[in-house]
Amino acid sequence: MQHLLTLFEISPDDLKRVLQVSMDLKARLVAGDRPPILAQHMVALLFEKPSLRTRVSFETGMAQLGGASLFLGDDVGWGKRESPSDFTHVLGEFVDLVVCRAKSHDRVEQMAGFNAVPIINGLTDLCHPCQALADVMTVQESLGSLEGKHLTFVGDGNNVAQSLALICAMLDMRFTLACPEGYEMDSDWLARVANAYPKAKIETVNDPMTAVTDADAIYTDVWTSMGQESEDAARKRAFASYQVGDKLMAKAPSHARVLHCLPAIRGQEITDEVIDSSQSDVIRQAGNRMHAQKGLMVWLLNRPWIDKNVT
Ligand code: CP
Ligand code: NVA
Repeated sequence: MQHLLTLFEISPDDLKRVLQVSMDLKARLVAGDRPPILAQHMVALLFEKPSLRTRVSFETGMAQLGGASLFLGDDVGWGKRESPSDFTHVLGEFVDLVVCRAKSHDRVEQMAGFNAVPIINGLTDLCHPCQALADVMTVQESLGSLEGKHLTFVGDGNNVAQSLALICAMLDMRFTLACPEGYEMDSDWLARVANAYPKAKIETVNDPMTAVTDADAIYTDVWTSMGQESEDAARKRAFASYQVGDKLMAKAPSHARVLHCLPAIRGQEITDEVIDSSQSDVIRQAGNRMHAQKGLMVWLLNRPWIDKNVT
């Protein structure tokens, strides 16, 4: 059974195919064509944390593919009303796919371990693979290609940064994280990336100003992720000089695109001027969550369609 908990579970070739399917489905949608590739399929969204983009993009994406979705919040009692095994096997009796947003990555791994139903990670503390898919799709649209492009992430070495580092390694892109000391990416994660992709070009630096001088895309995210609220004051102090604002953008090439996974705290990690500028792709990037996840769901649930329809 195929799950997608991290992007380690997909090969670079399959990743490129998913991106191709996603772009193809986006073009078809614009032309008014909504092929029912997943007719009668059902996805359940099991979320322990808030969400706008992930929830709505999976629900609308599945509907456009001819399937249906149901949102499961706290009331289903995941891990509370019955054993995780019973819970997952019962869910597998009803649905074809589960998208799970969990407080800890272990919870998603445990669920996938039962092999009762395919699981997609809809964000954990470790990584956010669906976000990274939409992000590279956005860069591809903006810059025309991905290979050799340099993505600089200014901010916390968090779940979003970790998925981006991995996807850049898979697509022969350069990835630089500019962060304060103590906020680097997890060393075990980086070791896994280096082991799977020995040619990966991943760097961690402290100075955001020099990190963006040859960036093709500049990415930022909140300084305090969901679940880290008690560290907020310390993080605000640590990241004070890491704002993506006009001063930083003046150091970057004029062709550099600006990305943010959203939700953003305007005036904190990014200024209004930059997020609303002509260099910013953040709204299309959010929209691409749906297109990229449509490609991913088709890859997971109807691969013969891809073999037949995508060259
Ligand atoms: N970027 C993202 O995952 O947004 P949500 O938390 O709103 O799903
Ligand atoms: N790093 C953020 C991303 C939200 C989409 C968080 O985990 O809260």
